[in-house]
Parts: sequence; C-alpha cells; structure tokens
Amino acid sequence: MLPKRDHTQLLADLAAEYARYAPQSAALHARAQQVMIDGGSHSLRLIQPFPPRIVRAQGARLTDEDGHSLLDLWQGHYANILGHNPPVVTHALAHAFDSGWGLQTGFTDRLQIETAEIICRQTGAERVRFTTTGALATMNAIMLARAFTGREIVMKVGGGWHGAQPWGLVGVNFASRAEPWRVEGAGLPPALVRQVVVSRYNDPAMLRDHFKAYGDRAACFIVEPFMGAGGFMPAAPEYLRVARQLADQYGVVLIFDEVISGFRFRAGDLGSLYGVKPDLATFAKIIGGGMPVAAVAGRADILKLCGREGGNQVRFPGGTYSAHPAGMFAAKTLLTYLVEHEQEVYPRLARLGAAMRYAVEEAFAAEGILARCLSTPNDAIPGSSFVVPQFPYDDQQPLISPDQVNDPEVCDVALRDRVFQLALLLENVHVVHGGGAVCAAHTDADVAELGEACRRVARRIRQGGSR
Ligand SMILES: Cc1ncc(COP(=O)(O)O)c(C=O)c1O
Repeated sequence: MLPKRDHTQLLADLAAEYARYAPQSAALHARAQQVMIDGGSHSLRLIQPFPPRIVRAQGARLTDEDGHSLLDLWQGHYANILGHNPPVVTHALAHAFDSGWGLQTGFTDRLQIETAEIICRQTGAERVRFTTTGALATMNAIMLARAFTGREIVMKVGGGWHGAQPWGLVGVNFASRAEPWRVEGAGLPPALVRQVVVSRYNDPAMLRDHFKAYGDRAACFIVEPFMGAGGFMPAAPEYLRVARQLADQYGVVLIFDEVISGFRFRAGDLGSLYGVKPDLATFAKIIGGGMPVAAVAGRADILKLCGREGGNQVRFPGGTYSAHPAGMFAAKTLLTYLVEHEQEVYPRLARLGAAMRYAVEEAFAAEGILARCLSTPNDAIPGSSFVVPQFPYDDQQPLISPDQVNDPEVCDVALRDRVFQLALLLENVHVVHGGGAVCAAHTDADVAELGEACRRVARRIRQGGSR
C-alpha cells in the first residue's frame, strides 16, 4: 500500500504558475464569468482555475489565445476520431455549403436515409431515429423501453454517465464506501429518482441479485459496453453475456449506451465485438462527424412505438434540429470514411493507444508513482484508443468498477482529476478526467511528447512542487 498524498500546496503552485503562463485565457475567463455561469456552458470544459480559450483546432493540436500549441487527447469530448477538423469532413462540408446545402431546411432528404442505412448495416440495428445529443438519445431509449414493457424501473450501473437527463442523473457521482452512489436529487421528481436501481459495473453476482429483486418490474437495463466517464474501463465479456441472459429471462429491454464506444473500436457498435446484441443502442459523438447528431437504434418492434404504426405512444417525435442537413452530411461523410478505411484507422488507434498508455505508465513508474491505464484490450476488444491513467495506492488490487477508481481511499482521485490536468497544461498537453484518447491524427512524435511531458509532471509530483 502506497502512502496517501496531499496536493494542496502543489495545486496552489500550479494555479499561480498557470495564471502567469496564460494571461489572455485568464483575462477572458474573468470576462466570461460576468455573463455565463462559471464562465462557460459545459462544466467539464471549465478547468480550474480557468480553461485555455481555444482559437484554432487542427488534427492532434489546439492553439489557445496565448499562442500555445497544445497536444489534445480530449478531442471534442471523444467525438473526433480523425482529429480536429479533419479535411475529409471539412472539405466536403465547405463544398456542400458552397453548393447551397448545409443550414436548416426542416425537410427530409436523401442524406438521412443514407446515414441511417450505414448505421443499420454496421450495427445490426433494424431501425434508427435521429436526435441531437446523447442525453436525448438515452432518455428516449428509456422511454421506449418503459412504454414497450409497461414497467417503471430503470436499472443502471453506478458511475454510468448517460447524459444530463432525469433517469441518467441518478448514480453518477461517487459518494462514500458505505453508499457509493449519490442521488442527484435537486430538481428531479422524487418518484422518478426512486425508480432507478443502481448496481455495480462488472459485477455479475450483484446484477443477478438485482434482477431477482426488481426484474419483474424493470423496464430496462442501460449499460455502457465500455465504461466512459465513470472510469474508462471495458466491460468483462462474461458480464455483458450475463446481462443479456438476465434481460431475456425477465423480459427487460437491454440498452447499450454506445455514445462513447460506437465507431470507436471498429466501424460500428462495440456490442458486436462482444458478440452481445442489445435490444436498443444509443449513439452520438463520433457518428456526427463533429456535428450534433445522435441516434437511438435497434429493434423495430420497440422503436415503432414512437411512430405511426405504434400509435405515436412515445413522444420522441424529433426536434427542430433533428437530422440537421449539415449534421447528416458530416455524419455520412465520416461514417463512409470509417467503413472504407476500417483496416487502417482502428489498428492505428490501437497501436498508438498502447504506445501512449505505456509511455504514461513508464513515466510515472520512473518517479515511483503507480499509474495504471485500465483501457487495455480484453478478450472481446482487440485494441483501445483510450489513455486514462488511474493512480491506485495498492498495486495488487484489480480495478474493474467505477466505485474503485472514484474512491479517494483506493485511488489518488485529486491527482488524476486536478493535479495531472493542470500540470500537463503547463506542458502544453490537454487532458480531461486524467486522460483522453488518441485519434487517427496523432503520431509517434506525439507519443514521445506525451511521455516527456509525463516524466516532467511525475518528477514534479514526487518532489511536491517546482519544475
Ligand atoms: C456514454 C455516454 N452516454 C451519454 C452521453 C451524453 O451525451 P451528450 O453529451 O451528447 O448529451 C455521454 C457524454 O459524454 C456519454 O459518454
């Protein structure tokens, strides 16, 4: 067991240094706070003490208002699988805009069909309905499941982030060992909060118990086949197989939230790699090609409940910007590219991901700090683009579930979420949640740059201060 660390002084030093390092971003942040809550519109982007304000993003790199060129592993909330503003999409979009196509029309068109056809073909879904965010996709998938089964209870896993929608806001943030998952109750109807049952990721025994207790009243079990924000770890193959078997046994709709994993591990869904087919799946991020596109995809007999054949029972009619022309254009362009270049893109991501994970772990090991990236391949996933180190205190304990990596008694959470992020920014590297993912625009030189940056950061953490 390694000793606990106190980062209070180091964080204060880093913040002071960062203020000197990025004065333009600091000044803009002060201005932003006068008109936006906390100075922005997405809390994850609002790095403390202030975020770098970005003026340009291309490939693997960002340029900020202070003229720094940052190596970026965040890549648009994991949406940018080819990197920022990839020419394959931007050139096609520029041409489309020049030809009188792109902004809102409020009509249906050929592009929607072609994009839906790709998604159905690559994921095995029978039908698709588009929307604009992952949160809306998961919310509507849950409503469909509740209507289809006529049941109320929603089963999910602790740490699973399904976007800011009512059922998804329960069981997201770690609270304590005794009661691991907080109920984010403020503003939510209490009756709805009580309908959500939270179990432990990668724990088939607990899942069996929960299905035994709630299965007859449960509408759905929603789970990420690769856990994103909650801990960046893959599902164990056995866990997903048990989930499928229990869902069948109890007549529960199995929903795979593939907002983060869809088209990240292959040109299609991740469930296929596990050989497990959900009843519904949700997609967003990568599928939009950098535009706000999301989808609920899956069984026709469930999805039809939001259409005429199903009596429009579920109010998932689409919104003003659903299947937006530029979104569909970017989606079709990117998805076509990924399908056609699958054999280049995904092995490249796997190779660079492995190299980056090794570089980070080695850099910390050289300074006597245990860093472990959990997003390594397993029996189902041949390779992974994720590079997210955890800093456990015990080098023997396997980390398989979000309640472990978010427990400050098990892992150095402050080091991952605050110290590492700020210290890396001073090295011109941008990460969130302690890490990120490689995109196809990253290179071996970027791996070396990240390794060097991590070495300096690790030294600084060991020394507890200055560079
Ligand atoms: C697995 C998962 N589901 C849903 C969402 C919500 O998507 P959005 O931010 O587009 O609402 C996210 C976002 O990070 C996610 O990672």
